Amino acid sequence: MEYRRLGGSGLQVSAIGLGTNQFGGRLDEGQSAQVVHQATELGINFIDTSNSYGRGLSEEYIGKAVKGRREDVLIATKVFSSTGEGPNRRGASRAHILREVEASLRRLQTDYIDLYQMHYYDPNTPVEETLRTLDDLVRHGKVRYIGCSNYAAWQVCEAVWTSRMLRLEQFVSVQPEYNLLNRSAERELVPFCKAYNMGVIPFYPLASGFLTGKYRPDAPPPEGTRLALNPRSRGRFLTEGNFAVLARLEKFGTERGHTVGELAIAWLLANPVVSSVIAGATRPEQVAANVKAADWRLTPEEMAELEKLLGEGT
Ligand SMILES: NC(=O)c1ccc[n+]([C@@H]2O[C@H](COP(=O)([O-])OP(=O)(O)OC[C@H]3O[C@@H](n4cnc5c(N)ncnc54)[C@H](OP(=O)(O)O)[C@@H]3O)[C@@H](O)[C@H]2O)c1
Repeated sequence: MEYRRLGGSGLQVSAIGLGTNQFGGRLDEGQSAQVVHQATELGINFIDTSNSYGRGLSEEYIGKAVKGRREDVLIATKVFSSTGEGPNRRGASRAHILREVEASLRRLQTDYIDLYQMHYYDPNTPVEETLRTLDDLVRHGKVRYIGCSNYAAWQVCEAVWTSRMLRLEQFVSVQPEYNLLNRSAERELVPFCKAYNMGVIPFYPLASGFLTGKYRPDAPPPEGTRLALNPRSRGRFLTEGNFAVLARLEKFGTERGHTVGELAIAWLLANPVVSSVIAGATRPEQVAANVKAADWRLTPEEMAELEKLLGEGT
């Protein structure tokens, strides 16, 4: 397993990470534990979760699965989403963060979070309030590094400069949606992260499984898969345009002895600004397949060819 620095920080995260938004929803405690155990056996040290996944169960299952070997894993969780009734049970305020960090620590059965990420930008809380709160958490040892997710580039920029001016802890990473089918992060966010030495942690790296090639244009989604169970995502990913791009990507991969899923992951890792690809997995075999993808180092020629192929339209 390759390890990469998380942005400009000294933290070394596995190039393949583990996404856990299905834990506590589709996956019960035992199934989640199997996935975590497979991941750590294969050298994955970076596990991404949120206080909102499975309404807290994702954190709880991870806490149980890594009990007794907490030091071997890095846990990245998030805060923002609504966790109860009332206007102060959501967002990036001091009140909400301080309540939620304690709840996450309890569920994770730990006394520190490796990477604490703001899940969304909060237009109703001054950025100084959020950053001072996060800075306090780092000073108190409850959080080691801080990051953000779903922020526009200007929002990350505003946060970075606020930290610099007030001498507060600075975000070390961003987590945007980013994959072969959705490259909108490349317009502003990715160049910003390169210039400011921040780590990019792409979510939906496999476009919810679409980029593994298991969905076919002429057949219903295979039983038990995410898109079979989730009609809303189905409409979003299973489009004619996406299937056209998929066909070209599959051909590119096959010609080089790789699956399209491997290509999706290897393509993200070809960019050094990407710190970890947190592919979600519902079974141990999927974790193993995703780890294997990191062995493929795309050459500059292959990247250029892919660029052409992706630009061809549908
Ligand atoms: N910050 C945010 O707002 C945000 C939003 C979304 C996700 N995330 C994070 O990013 C992580 C990754 O995103 P994601 O899990 O939603 O999507 P993803 O990684 O693009 O896709 C994961 C899904 O693909 C399928 N899959 C994975 N490996 C496979 C393989 N080798 N062969 C066949 N199928 C495979 C599984 O689906 P099946 O269910 O069909 O088995 C799995 O649930 C999440 O788990 C979460 O930690 C963050």
